[in-house]
Amino acid sequence: MRQGAPAVPAAENETVISEVAGDTRIAGETRIVVPAQDLVLHNALIADDLQAAALRVLASGRYILPPSSSSSSSPPPPSSPVSWSPLSPARALVPAASSPSRSPPSEVRGFEDEAALALGVSHAVGVSSGTDAILAMLMALGVGPGDEVVTTPFSFIATAAAIARLGARPVFADVEPATLTLDPDAAAARVGPRTRAVLTVHLFGRAARSEPLETTCTARGIALVEDAAQAIGVVDGTGRRAGAIGRGAALSFFPTKNLGGFGDAGMVITNDGALAAAVRLLRTHGATTKFHHVVLGGNFRLDELQAALLRAKLPHLPAWTTARRRIAGIYRDALSSLPLDPPPPDPGCVWNQFVVRVPGGRRDELAAHLTRNRIATTVYYPEPLHLQPCFATLGYRRGDFPIAERASSEVLGLPIYPELTDDQIQAVVDGIRQFYL
Ligand SMILES: Cc1ncc(COP(=O)(O)O)c(C=O)c1O
Repeated sequence: MRQGAPAVPAAENETVISEVAGDTRIAGETRIVVPAQDLVLHNALIADDLQAAALRVLASGRYILPPSSSSSSSPPPPSSPVSWSPLSPARALVPAASSPSRSPPSEVRGFEDEAALALGVSHAVGVSSGTDAILAMLMALGVGPGDEVVTTPFSFIATAAAIARLGARPVFADVEPATLTLDPDAAAARVGPRTRAVLTVHLFGRAARSEPLETTCTARGIALVEDAAQAIGVVDGTGRRAGAIGRGAALSFFPTKNLGGFGDAGMVITNDGALAAAVRLLRTHGATTKFHHVVLGGNFRLDELQAALLRAKLPHLPAWTTARRRIAGIYRDALSSLPLDPPPPDPGCVWNQFVVRVPGGRRDELAAHLTRNRIATTVYYPEPLHLQPCFATLGYRRGDFPIAERASSEVLGLPIYPELTDDQIQAVVDGIRQFYL
């Protein structure tokens, strides 16, 4: 068992019922602590790779991605290239042995190429966050005032907010009871003359079913797009990967995601060259060259530093996903005889979260019990999107989406991340078993 591993607070976009932090020793007795995340440990295990990547960027003088079709507008390399050393700060600024004759290659572009290859898509476009990935993708599809976009009420706010920020109307359809992903039949039924796109969400790392939604979208000539913020590398029931299920997918590299950055970062992945080109343009204020703006975009750039760090982490993603799947399997087996509902098995799921349903109005009681046992839990999501105050003007009421509403009162996320030890996994299982004794 690890001792004193610092617990990292759960993400700001998560509702924390119990936050476990601190020592593993209480009054001389050793207790197992299971934090919601252990990002310090997660990143420390590959510290050398991360430091090398960071130092490469620091020394490069290139920190910002230039406009897409421009090479002339890229920031010049430093006039006196330096090498950075974390070990000798006093001598950190030392002229490098040889001066590069041109700008160093972009970390963002390198990361995009490597991510596209790893994720089995033709195009990857790095952006500033998962939120901006959704926004830019919808902008690229021309979503705007007067349009409707059909989506799920059971997701993080960014999903529906991106639609509303463009002046379009989020039109919700209920979720499937077992998976809590958008019900494709219910969504197809909400597609109408104003529908510009359908935004499905691969929730908790599980691919949403997209049949018969795809057929409806194809027949109506509208785009199905994926919010895969929680589901990098997910494979759906038909064997397709995120980004290839719909026109494109948005990924998030929020630190607690399966591929987590060191701040905010995201990506659009797609096999659609035109969509990728449009997102590339939009992410640099619609500029084709410096100070020449052909469309209104935004500052949706991915930083060179984030890209370099994510590039260092990317090769580890398959092993981390395997570890998450193993933990999910253990939880499922161990919890199946208890009066709660573990999430259904799914070989393509990448388990960003392991969210159980606690029936009988006992969710908060179980969470409190686990807190007393120093096990962190998180509620995803305590209030469905159609009932959020910011969407009051949409006119939805409690009772409109009963499956999502019921889920909000029953869901409880258990700790799941690659570094969980067998002792910690067992402590979670034992803690839940004890509750039902
Ligand atoms: C389903 C979903 N969509 C979108 C986002 C937004 O991603 P980001 O936090 O990178 O902006 C998140 C992040 O938590 C998410 O979980």
